[in-house]
Amino acid sequence: MTESSFIHRFEPARDAGSPPLLLLHGTGGDENDLLGLGKMISPGAALLSPRGRVLEHGMPRFFRRLAEGVFDEDDVRRRAHELGDFVAEAQKQYGLAAPIAVGFSNGANIAAALLLLKPKALAGAILLRAMVPLSDPPNADLAGKPVLLLSGQADPIVPASNSARLAALLSEAGARVTHKVLPAGHQLSQADLSLACDWIGKVSAEAA
Ligand code: MLT
Repeated sequence: MTESSFIHRFEPARDAGSPPLLLLHGTGGDENDLLGLGKMISPGAALLSPRGRVLEHGMPRFFRRLAEGVFDEDDVRRRAHELGDFVAEAQKQYGLAAPIAVGFSNGANIAAALLLLKPKALAGAILLRAMVPLSDPPNADLAGKPVLLLSGQADPIVPASNSARLAALLSEAGARVTHKVLPAGHQLSQADLSLACDWIGKVSAEAA
């Protein structure tokens, strides 16, 4: 791949009927982090897992931030476009349909930005502990795109009002949003896994 490439892992599909997953890790993670989660959520799906290209004190991320929860929005825009270009190249190289993003924390935030800035890049998204990524988002057309947003009731990083705003923003853009607030903090729980599995099963069945 070219310039816009990311260090990444790719696992080909074993079940051609499942939509590919784009796995996007949290701050300090890498391309290996979410492979296990991806396999549990959708066994047999192709997995494309890039490493964020921004380093914060040595920790990979998908865009710069000024403080926790305060984003460098110019960088969010630029990095979302870079990620969208990478996804398009990977689709060509590996012969993939548009993927469903599975993002955690910083990875969920870049997935939300990608949905808003380049809606065609994704077939849908599972956003785990996501926040509103842009204070002045464009008018995206997300007509019918399925989005599962899972928030933690006791999340110290994402206020309830912020995830509610993200759900509203994506719904207003036409996405079919399922938003659930779980009895959890910022970390993932068993409930995230089972809700994500059920949701992807339904989305794959609709797409088949
Ligand atoms: C972000 O910077 O994207 C959020 O604060 C979540 C995180 O801590 O990575």
